[in-house]
Order: sequence, then C-alpha cells, then structure tokens
Amino acid sequence: MGDAERGKRLFVERCSTCHTLSDDKRHGLGPNLREVFGRVACSASGYRYTQIPSRIRQGTFWTEDVLEKLLQRPETFMEHSWAKKHRVPTHQDREDIVAFLKDLPTQK
Ligand code: HEC
Repeated sequence: MGDAERGKRLFVERCSTCHTLSDDKRHGLGPNLREVFGRVACSASGYRYTQIPSRIRQGTFWTEDVLEKLLQRPETFMEHSWAKKHRVPTHQDREDIVAFLKDLPTQK
C-alpha cells in the first residue's frame, strides 16, 4: 500500500512544476491532475495533448497499475523531453505518488 502523505511530498518535488492540482481545473505545462485517478487517459477538458494519444491505447483508464507503469516506463506512453520527467525509479516512490493521486478529493 502506498503512503499518500509521502506521495504528496514526492509529487511536490517531482511533478508540481508542470502539473497543478487546483480545483479550478487550470493546467500547467502538463494537464491538471486533480481528477486524474480513474479517468480516461488524455481527457482533461481544455488541455491540448500532444504526445500521449499516439502511444496510448484508446480508452485506457488511469488505474493504479497503469499509473505505476507510466512512472516506471514513461517512454511507452510518451516520447518527448517530458517523458523522462515521469520516470520514478523506486517502486515505493511510485506507489506513494499513485496513492496520493488516488486520495485527492474530487468534486463529484
Ligand atoms: C516537465 C514537465 C512535467 C513533469 C515534471 C511531469 N509531467 Fe506529467 N505530463 C507532462 C505533460 C506535458 C503531459 C501531457 C503530455 C501530452 O500532451 O500528451 C503529462 C501527462 C501526464 C499524465 C497523463 C494525464 C492525462 O490527462 O491523461 C499523468 C498521469 C502525469 N503526467 C503524471 C505525472 C506525475 C505523477 C509526475 C511526477 C512524477 C509528472 N507527471 C511530472 C509534463 C510533466
């Protein structure tokens, strides 16, 4: 089981330069990840995707497994200088980041 508290720290260090988590759905260089958990890949409204759609199967959902795969082998999802920013080498770190994303409150 991932530790969401620890995942939050890791997210701030490694992801937040490009991804916001704000309620207002604003995007950074990357899409807002507030509601990313469980949703279909590349479906954040108002964000213009460039990379992922060419490499990801249509209808892929961001479940725990798929998110962990993204953080383990980002090059299978995207090919750009951003890709390597998604690589998180340690298994525990990946689990913690995913636990954090899973726990974010959504507005449903
Ligand atoms: C250098 C900027 C940058 C960093 C740092 C970064 N990302 Fe990304 N990320 C992007 C971009 C840009 C995209 C969208 C790619 C595209 O347009 O297809 C993306 C896409 C994603 C997606 C897919 C979102 C969707 O809507 O389907 C997830 C999930 C994701 N990133 C998670 C992370 C996590 C977790 C981290 C930290 C470990 C991270 N990113 C670090 C730039 C970044």
